[in-house]
Amino acid sequence: MKKITTSAPGKLMLFGEHAVVYGYPSIVTAMDTRIFVIAEMIENSSDIIITPQVKESRFLVESLKLFKEEFQVKQSVKLHTRSDFSHNVGLGSSSAVTVAAFKALSLLFDKKLSKKEIFDLSYKVTLQIQGVGSGFDIAAATYGGTLHFITGGKKIEYLDTEEIPLIVGYSGVKADTPTMIRKVENAFKNKKEEIGKIFGEIEQIIGKAKEAIIDKDYQLTGNLMNKNHKLLVKLGVSTERLESMVNASLASGAYGAKLSGAGGGDCMIALISPEKKGEVEKAIQKVGGTIIRVANNAEGTREEL
Ligand code: PMV
Repeated sequence: MKKITTSAPGKLMLFGEHAVVYGYPSIVTAMDTRIFVIAEMIENSSDIIITPQVKESRFLVESLKLFKEEFQVKQSVKLHTRSDFSHNVGLGSSSAVTVAAFKALSLLFDKKLSKKEIFDLSYKVTLQIQGVGSGFDIAAATYGGTLHFITGGKKIEYLDTEEIPLIVGYSGVKADTPTMIRKVENAFKNKKEEIGKIFGEIEQIIGKAKEAIIDKDYQLTGNLMNKNHKLLVKLGVSTERLESMVNASLASGAYGAKLSGAGGGDCMIALISPEKKGEVEKAIQKVGGTIIRVANNAEGTREEL
């Protein structure tokens, strides 16, 4: 019987985390660490879902349910996954698995879905399960590349760029994104004006960062990352460990560094010139970070032949 394998990439937030939830723009890039979904039709009375990571199975269950409802499919399906990366580091395994599942199901049942349709279906599933989130991770998994993104996919635009010279450092702490989103939400409720002003400043940074990335002006991009990071510190989402990793990167010659994603742990990124790579990596490791070797600006979801 017909069998399809697809994959989708993980993600990194380059600029605009948290503010993006409130309708401000962000810049995200797809990482070439991928999740693979294998989908096949089976002669069974019920569907079978096999995934090494329990968290991902919820996303697969909901994706399959939505797909079957949407396209009135009765046929039983087996879905299983394989992953290039650990779900612990916060690089977007649940969004990647959801997107790869819709891609696989659409090919298995010959339903042509555009990127935007895959985005919309996947975003629906994520909102159902997590309740909050801009969908930037879904956009990176679907479209790939480096994107100018506005919440809910109101804007998804490729930046004409190539791989950005980044180092990714994992703080060793798994952060809970919904908790961090709620933390900022509370701050926003209590100090609307102050937090609103921070979001406005982040928006201005992104306007400049977009051009700087396209121009490959990494000195300027790095400065803008530093500015964005300081604003995230003001939002209260950095941690001691992330601070030491960011500071160690800057002290060893990075153009710029910032936390990436919700904060509270997970990863930071440092923008470097190639000759500083070794030094910056060592500096991050010295303060307790783990280097994750991944390329960015990677291809979006695809069929694996
Ligand atoms: O923790 P991550 O890497 O999933 O990033 C969350 C980024 C937020 O802007 C805080 C939330 C969102 O969905 O955009």
